[in-house]
Amino acid sequence: MSAIAGNWVAVGTVDDIPRRGARCVKNGDMTIAIFRTADDRIFALEDKCPHRNGPLSQGIVHDGCVTCPLHNWVISLETGQAQGADEGATAAFPVRIDGSQVLLALTPAAEKAA
Ligand code: FES
Repeated sequence: MSAIAGNWVAVGTVDDIPRRGARCVKNGDMTIAIFRTADDRIFALEDKCPHRNGPLSQGIVHDGCVTCPLHNWVISLETGQAQGADEGATAAFPVRIDGSQVLLALTPAAEKAA
């Protein structure tokens, strides 16, 4: 990752991320999964299911959500919240697109530690 300004870091281009898939970036000890939906929307979540820390980056992306590969919990890409009867949330990070570049906003605490 390379710093752009403030909390925003460039994490590659939209085309670096497979459609309906994800690509991971490291932020210290944390792995952040950058997801791309079928209609090319981009979201970022910590790569850790709120159930038992399953790797969400290896899940199936559908309808603005990702299904965890371990026990099929469905997690909102926008909020990180578990859907349906399941409870819990994983950290969600703001992302924006600048041209074809994907920019990821890290939390202020993570930025301070960097
Ligand atoms: S670890 Fe994700 S559903 Fe169990």
